[in-house]
Amino acid sequence: MTSREADRRTPFLSAAQAEEVRGRFGTPCYVYDRAMLEATARRALALPTPYGLTLRYAMKANLSRGILALFRDLGLHIDASSDWEVDRALRAGFTAERIQLTSQMPCRRLPEFAARGIVLNACSVHELDAFGQAAPGRAIAVRLNPGLGSGSTKRTNTGGPSASFGIWHQYLDDVKATAARHRLVIRTLHSHIGSGTDSDVWKRAARMTLDLAAELPDVTTVNLGGGFKVGRMPEEPTVDLDEVADHVASELEGFREREGRALHLEVEPGTYLVAQAGVVLATCIDVVDTGQDGYLFAKLDTGMTEVTRPAMYGAQHPVDVLVTGREPAEVVFVGPCCESGDILTPAPGDAEALGPRWVPRPRIGDLVVVGGAGAYCAAMSMINYNSYPQAPEVMLEPDGALRLLRERQTLDQILANEV
Ligand SMILES: Cc1ncc(COP(=O)(O)O)c(C=O)c1O
Repeated sequence: MTSREADRRTPFLSAAQAEEVRGRFGTPCYVYDRAMLEATARRALALPTPYGLTLRYAMKANLSRGILALFRDLGLHIDASSDWEVDRALRAGFTAERIQLTSQMPCRRLPEFAARGIVLNACSVHELDAFGQAAPGRAIAVRLNPGLGSGSTKRTNTGGPSASFGIWHQYLDDVKATAARHRLVIRTLHSHIGSGTDSDVWKRAARMTLDLAAELPDVTTVNLGGGFKVGRMPEEPTVDLDEVADHVASELEGFREREGRALHLEVEPGTYLVAQAGVVLATCIDVVDTGQDGYLFAKLDTGMTEVTRPAMYGAQHPVDVLVTGREPAEVVFVGPCCESGDILTPAPGDAEALGPRWVPRPRIGDLVVVGGAGAYCAAMSMINYNSYPQAPEVMLEPDGALRLLRERQTLDQILANEV
């Protein structure tokens, strides 16, 4: 194994640190890298924009309090996707004005949230009307579906005619009429067209959103969402955020020339800020095969329980066996659930098929690392299926210390709400 291979196999943990994690916290265990989280956030905060930038963290990507606290201290704002996430952001110390609520579920605490100063982002005409009834005369945000979407899979596309997110762009007159009825001032126009978007489609959608902003004279901020693609696999592309920022800057300058308004820019990435800064450390618990014409399977103590994305929509995550000097083999990695869909390595582009990987031939007891697990893994985990407890989360500090953020669940905690 070359040293580059060694780097890829342990994105930020040394083999010794990985063993330390297993010894102290057990597997499966999420591990996050504080230095990488901080560097990525600082890079995004420094993006050049002509009329100011607000960086919102789409907290649905990773709700760990350790990560929220870090981003809070760096000055990021929050996009929350439910009333519950608003509460978690408040408990993590974000002030109300730094929290925006963009929810598929109409808010059940509108008067309270409005009074506290949470930024309410209406995702349907019904929500807009409810905002108006609860807080007439208030400044608000509106999420529009600009008519175009893009995602790494169809399941992560949130724009265009197949998506229920935001108000369809042709209903702008309804939006204006509803806002006028309640004297609501639409200050922010928002769109988010999907996760893992194609950059060109994202840029086209940005232009479409600005064209809609031109028809809303009170808009002072345009929020173009997140969705910036991160290549978790070495062969997958990662968006060049500086290039996107340059493009958006010239769009905003063009808008100012045409419309006479300088728009403040907001973006709200989740994946971009956290995906590569997290791994799941696991142990190989069994190795089985299905004969000469079949497959070699490595069963891990992690799978859809901690990293649901591959089973859910065929997402690709690097999976590596932390050993040296072992002969390679083509291996399908599966999780511990009694569920044939519990597959960590589906075929790229075909979630139903198996995608064996060339890795050192695994043996029972080997440490295995699942990479790109900082976003939509702990947050989207299938907690307690087959009664497996929720896995712990650990932060690797810049000085090499491993700090426990969340303990492994106990059986009593799993059963706590049964009556
Ligand atoms: C409204 C909204 N904003 C931002 C994001 C973040 O997307 P990503 O993690 O792809 O950057 C999402 C994710 O689904 C979202 O729904």
